[in-house]
Amino acid sequence: MKKTNLSKKTFYITTPIYYVNDVPHIGHAYTTIAADVIARYKRLSGYDVLFSTGTDEHGQKIVRSAEKANLTPQELADQVVIKFKDLWPLLNIRYDDFIRTTEVRHIEVVKGLLNKLYDKDDIYKGEYEGWYCVPCETFWTETQLTDKTCPNCGRKIEKIKEESYFFKMSKYQDQLLSYIEKNPQCIQPEARKNEIISFVKSGLKDQSITRTKKSLQWGIDLPFDNNHVVYVWYDALINYLTVAGYRINEEIFKKYWPADIHLVGKDILRFHTVIWFTMLMAAGIESPRMVFAHGWWTIEGEKMSKSKGNVVDPYEMVDEFGADVFRYFLMREVSFGQDGNFSKKLLVQRINYDLANDLGNLVSRTIAMINQFFNKKVPQPAEQKEKTDVDLKDLALNTIKEYNIHMNNLSLSRALETIWQFIRRTNKYIDQTEPWILGREKTQQERLSTILYNLAESLRLTTILIYPFMPVKAKEIWRQLGLESDLDKIKLEEEAHWGHLKPGTLVKPGRVIFPRVDIKRKVNKKIKENNNSL
Ligand code: MSP
Repeated sequence: MKKTNLSKKTFYITTPIYYVNDVPHIGHAYTTIAADVIARYKRLSGYDVLFSTGTDEHGQKIVRSAEKANLTPQELADQVVIKFKDLWPLLNIRYDDFIRTTEVRHIEVVKGLLNKLYDKDDIYKGEYEGWYCVPCETFWTETQLTDKTCPNCGRKIEKIKEESYFFKMSKYQDQLLSYIEKNPQCIQPEARKNEIISFVKSGLKDQSITRTKKSLQWGIDLPFDNNHVVYVWYDALINYLTVAGYRINEEIFKKYWPADIHLVGKDILRFHTVIWFTMLMAAGIESPRMVFAHGWWTIEGEKMSKSKGNVVDPYEMVDEFGADVFRYFLMREVSFGQDGNFSKKLLVQRINYDLANDLGNLVSRTIAMINQFFNKKVPQPAEQKEKTDVDLKDLALNTIKEYNIHMNNLSLSRALETIWQFIRRTNKYIDQTEPWILGREKTQQERLSTILYNLAESLRLTTILIYPFMPVKAKEIWRQLGLESDLDKIKLEEEAHWGHLKPGTLVKPGRVIFPRVDIKRKVNKKIKENNNSL
C-alpha cells in the first residue's frame, strides 16, 4: 500500500495545533512524536522536509479557561504556549515551524482566504439556530442529537440562535465524494475513511463559520463584517496554509503544498476532511495528500481525564524514564491507527526486555569485544563464506527493505518489530559463533575478525534504522561505534549498505545506553517522596 507520492522530493507533515486551555498531555505528545519520527525518516530518505506544529489560541474554550485563571485570553495563550514550546525539545522533537493562530502572518492568510470565498459567493449571511459544544468547539443540528449532550464528548451543549455567516459546504458534497473515491489514500486508515464517506453521503449542511461579537470577541475579525469573528475551527485549519506560505511566499507554497500528511487524532478527523477539503475546493487549492487519524490512549485501562486524575504528563515521563524510551514505547506498543493502553508496567517491560536486554546487550557486547580482542579497532573481515555470516548479511539487507516499506506505509510499530527481529538474530549470532572462546585461540584470529566486523556492521545499520524513533540514543551508540558523521544529516541511500563500516574505526566504549529499570524501586521511591511532602 503506497501512501505518499514518493516521486516528490519535498515532504510537508503537520500535527494538529493544540488548544492553549490545557497543558500538554500524552495525547499531544503522541501525535507530535509520531510526526517527528516520520519527519526524521523522510529527511533520512533524502526529502526536503517541512514539519510544523503549533497552538490554536482562539475560541470560546480559551475565553472560559482564561476567565477561570483570571487572565486575558492572550495572557493565557502566552503562558501555555511556553509549556508546549519547552516540551518539544525535551522529547527530542525537531520541528521546522511553530505556528500560533494569534500571529499576524496567520490572521492575514485567514482574512485573505475568507475574502476570496465571499467574493465567489461561497459565503452568505444567515441565522444559526442550533447547539454548540464549547469543549469541542462544534456546532450540532437538532437531527444529530439524541439528547442534550454532545455526540462527540458527551458533555452538556448550549443552544445558540444568532446571525451568522455560512460557508456553502453542501455545494461541494458530490465533488468531495468523487475526490475521496479518486484519491483512496487521502483519508487513512481505511475504516475511518469509510466512516467519513457515510457521513458525507448522509448529507452535508452549510457550515456556520462566524460568531457575533456579542457572544464572542476572541477570534479573528471577519474581514467583510466587523460585527463577527471567525469560528475557531475555520481559523485553525487554515494554519496549514499559513505555514506553507500561502499568499506569503508563492515559491515556498509551490514547493511544499499540498501537504503530504496531516496527522490527527481520530476525534478531529471529520474537521480535517469534510470541512477542510471542501474549504480548499472552494478556494481552488489542492487538498492534502493524506489525513491520517491515529487512535487514542487509555491510561491503565481507563479513559484519561482530569477528574480521574490519571492524566499522563510528558514532562514527568521524560524525567522518570527519559525521552527516547518513552518515544520508543509509544511507537512500539500499538499499531499506528489503533487505540492503545498506557501502563507503566508495560513501559518498564519494554525498557527492560527490548531496550536493555536486546539492543543494550548487543551494543555492550559488540563494543566490549572489539575493545578486548582488537584494542578498540574494528577488524578487517575475511571473505564471507560461512552460512551464518551470509544469513546475517542477507537478513540485514532484507530488514532495511522491509523497514522502508513499513515506514512509508506508516506502520511504525511494524517497522520497529522488523528491526528487533534483526537485533535478536544478531544476538543469536553471537551465541552461535562464541567469539569469546575464539578470542582465547591464536589460530582463530581471522574468524574472530570476521565475526566482530559483522557485529559492528549489524549494529551500525540497526542504529541508522532506530534513529527516527530514538535520535539521541542512536547518536550515543553511533559515537560508541566510533562513527563521526552526523546522524541528523546522513542519507539512507548512501549509508544503508552492508560493508560501509571502515575496518580500523576506533570504537569508544562508554556508559550503558539503556539501564534496566526496577519498577518496584521506582514505586517505593514515589511513595517515599509523597510521604515526605505530606
Ligand atoms: N485545536 C484542535 C486541533 C486543531 S487542528 C487544525 C484540537 N486541539 S487539542 O489540543 O484538543 O488536540 C488534541 C490532540 O490530541 C488531538 O489530535 C487529539 O486526538 C489528541 N488526543 C487527546 N487525547 C488523546 C488521547 N488520550 N490519546 C491520543 N490522542 C489524544 O483538537
